[in-house]
Amino acid sequence: MYRYLQYLHRCFKLRSSRYQNLLRTIRAHQCQQIVEVGVYNGRTARKMIQTASISHRPAEIVYHGFDLFEQLTDAELESELSKRPPTRTAVQSLLRRTGANINLYQGNTLDTLKEFAAAGALDNRLNTLIFIDGGHSAETVAHDWENLQPCLTEKTVVVFDDYYPNAHPAIEGKGCQELVSSLDPAQYRTEILEPVNRFQKDWGELQIQMVQLQLA
Ligand SMILES: C[S@@+](CC[C@H](N)C(=O)[O-])C[C@H]1O[C@@H](n2cnc3c(N)ncnc32)[C@H](O)[C@@H]1O
Repeated sequence: MYRYLQYLHRCFKLRSSRYQNLLRTIRAHQCQQIVEVGVYNGRTARKMIQTASISHRPAEIVYHGFDLFEQLTDAELESELSKRPPTRTAVQSLLRRTGANINLYQGNTLDTLKEFAAAGALDNRLNTLIFIDGGHSAETVAHDWENLQPCLTEKTVVVFDDYYPNAHPAIEGKGCQELVSSLDPAQYRTEILEPVNRFQKDWGELQIQMVQLQLA
């Protein structure tokens, strides 16, 4: 009951943020396994695990997080429209306190996700959320999706961040909109989620949404 009240409070605090979609998805699908591509400071991971713990004991929740952490270079920070994450150790220590099974994979997802998928590290018996929010170049988003796509089952919900509905030269070649529009609707059900978050940049307004995907 306490965890559910905490969840309602968290959703209320995120009422105008697209991030509420992650918590609502975990709750609606009773997700027990979470894959986050792009962990950053681990705070979203913590909220997702806390939400999963309404339906599952923390020790039964599995979290897999991918990031470069302190290996992120200045060039990658710029080309991936990224944020500078803390160290892997700092994030590990934050997330360990949730009581969930925490697995952090440090390195470029071009390598780490491929190894992860090939090793069959996902438990496909569990309801699973895959949150793709790592590098923001369209190329990296496409690679991350291609590597994870074979892991999808009918128990998987994928959420992509960084769907940019308004085209602008400043964000050309970034985000997941190109990938989403290329997907076969006979194979995947996609939904562009509300709300739209808006940020004022020196070139104009950056609009960001999340997209949810499931097998059709
Ligand atoms: C936007 S942040 C993720 C935010 C996080 N999901 C959250 O909700 O707080 C993007 C993260 O992806 C990581 N990243 C960017 N490109 C990457 C790559 N090619 N491989 C692995 N991690 C990458 C960055 O280090 C950064 O921490």
